[in-house]
Amino acid sequence: MKESANGNNEQDKILTNRQGHPVTDNQNVRTVGNRGPVTLENYDFLEKISHFDREKIPERVVHARGAGAHGYFESYGKVGDEHVSTYTRAKLFQKAGKRTPVFVRFSTVVHGGHSSESERDPRGFAVKFYTEDGNWDLVGNNLKIFFIRDPLKFPDMVHSFRPDPVTNLSNPERMFDFLSLSPEATHMVTFLFSPWGIPANYRQMQGSGVNTYKWVNQNGEAVLIKYHWEPLKQGIRNLKQHEASEIQGKTTTHATQDLYEAIERGEHPEWELCVQIMSDGEHPELDFDPLDPTKLWPQDQFPFRKVGKMVLNKNPEDYFNEVEQVAFGTGVLVDGLDFSDDKLLQGRTFSYSDTQRHRVGTNYLQLPINAPKNRVATNQRGGQMEYHVDKAPGQNPHVNYEPSSLGGLKEASQSGDLHQPHYDAKLVREKIDRPNDFQQAGETYRAFEDWERDELVANLGQVLSICQQQIQDRMIGYFTEADSEYGNRVRAELEKVLAAKQDIDHTSSKTADEMTEQARKMGH
Ligand code: HEM
Repeated sequence: MKESANGNNEQDKILTNRQGHPVTDNQNVRTVGNRGPVTLENYDFLEKISHFDREKIPERVVHARGAGAHGYFESYGKVGDEHVSTYTRAKLFQKAGKRTPVFVRFSTVVHGGHSSESERDPRGFAVKFYTEDGNWDLVGNNLKIFFIRDPLKFPDMVHSFRPDPVTNLSNPERMFDFLSLSPEATHMVTFLFSPWGIPANYRQMQGSGVNTYKWVNQNGEAVLIKYHWEPLKQGIRNLKQHEASEIQGKTTTHATQDLYEAIERGEHPEWELCVQIMSDGEHPELDFDPLDPTKLWPQDQFPFRKVGKMVLNKNPEDYFNEVEQVAFGTGVLVDGLDFSDDKLLQGRTFSYSDTQRHRVGTNYLQLPINAPKNRVATNQRGGQMEYHVDKAPGQNPHVNYEPSSLGGLKEASQSGDLHQPHYDAKLVREKIDRPNDFQQAGETYRAFEDWERDELVANLGQVLSICQQQIQDRMIGYFTEADSEYGNRVRAELEKVLAAKQDIDHTSSKTADEMTEQARKMGH
């Protein structure tokens, strides 16, 4: 346990209530006689119990279980061999050695705040950079792609992954019902059911922005960007299903513990930030759409270029204040970084700040973990729990509007040329032209090592065995389209698992008969 009080002065350690009154008795409520009844004017008790009644906030609708740490990002001043200013004017990248403080939250996705950290599930990898130009959030996952490409499907997808709304039982048939009608998920399913679906812990995993973003330079010219975090000295480690099950039998919090204890020991995990760059445009020569988050950008054509490294060197002082109340969002970018037209990214960008106004509160950006470390001056006023007025020194406090000639805030000047994409298209509700749902799933299957393919096939055989046959057939159809060996192996494994289940049913019913006979003989 660490000492958290300031100084050694005994007076500093006196318990008070939130009004600053010293608490003289924290063991006994005020009663009429020592057997009660309790009086209701006892402010200390009322304050304490009613604060306790409210001490939980809604948990995140996804990514509820998480762990976090503070650290810094250090720029290399270059992107690969080129100066970074060729591509972006974002200040945090410009000078070699420039450090920007960060807070990172890792998470599992589907289940609640106390679920197991050894679940087969993507892992969240969200980084808040407190830059001199305000905050930049890079809200990523460990895996480099996603299940779907249209944000309209996200709530259905998450519902299907969660327990049944009637029984509250987890049932993978629901998940595979949805996935077997969403062919674009085949690539992600291939990663998720391989060992890459259970990273050994949060330190030894990669991170990825998944969606396509843009970088914009001083002339307003843009390129398409994918972000990737590569673990440095701690490396990458994934688990086989039986290893994860063993951990789950002993603890549900091994990843939080691993991160916390490594940082306390002074073993500070490090990741290198790499980007893949593609010229801005539709790239008809590619067999996939560069804005499609179900696709990898082949590294031989779009190499990883290093831009800096991140070190996590400090544990949170308070889990709730920092890890629970931190709020990341894909809309939180700084000058020189931009969105692409990736539909999923744009849907996400609405969702994050919307949920945070509900989950944390209207003024969530005033909390220390979320507030930028540079100057903030807005005309936003009021709302529940407003903590202070964020006004500029010298600003006329009577003026909370803009424009004004009476001493209010002024617009900033533009720091470089604007990036102004041009659109000439019909408004439609349509799938993209190059869905190519299976090819990369096949490439990923073939790129796995033998033991990873064996695990993938075994895991899929198990999980599909509890699904209806129409779901099994559709999934195996997708795997076969990806790679015929992949489909054949999953089919064979499924048949093996189903046959073994029949044997077990048979054996266990014989055993039950024998047990009944034994009980009869024993006179029960
Ligand atoms: C958390 C929505 C796709 C990574 C969340 C939260 C929402 C959300 C509502 C809870 C935020 C909070 O309470 O603070 C969506 C929607 C998506 C989507 C609507 C698609 C349309 C993705 C993708 C990734 C991702 C593709 C990975 C690149 C994360 C992470 C968190 C998160 C890491 C947890 C952030 C934290 O630690 O606080 N998402 N998400 N999400 N999402 Fe997404």
